[in-house]
Amino acid sequence: MSKEKLIEGLNEDLAAELGTVIRYTYQSSKAVGFAGFELREILETEIGDELGHAAFLMDVIVDLGGEPITQPMDFEKPQGLKSMLKLDLEMERQDVENYIAHAKMAEDLELIELQMKLEEMAADEAGHARELRRMIAGL
Ligand SMILES: [Fe+2]
Ligand SMILES: [Fe+2]
Repeated sequence: MSKEKLIEGLNEDLAAELGTVIRYTYQSSKAVGFAGFELREILETEIGDELGHAAFLMDVIVDLGGEPITQPMDFEKPQGLKSMLKLDLEMERQDVENYIAHAKMAEDLELIELQMKLEEMAADEAGHARELRRMIAGL
């Protein structure tokens, strides 16, 4: 396990977070109707969370001696609330998996603060996934 490999992984997480901020902002604009109104409220909170995650990852990458990427990960644009939410749920699940994997890498490098923070971020994403599942169940 090398520091370079961890930086690479964190940069992938960063690209995903930046992409999520843009995806959720885009979806908020596309969300219409009563259910869309609810979705906008949820996404608004989550955009703040994801932006916080991105800012933290940038700081950590710099602290580790890396260069943070600024190019967001591209995303699909399914139309209709249910399709949007299903995509979001899948992406949140992937984020949970990635953070758990990278927390393990941080543990191997004895970076305790980073390990715990990444685990906390995995929990944040799992919370987002739970919110999305509740929305999907009602559609
Ligand atoms: Fe996030
Ligand atoms: Fe999330």
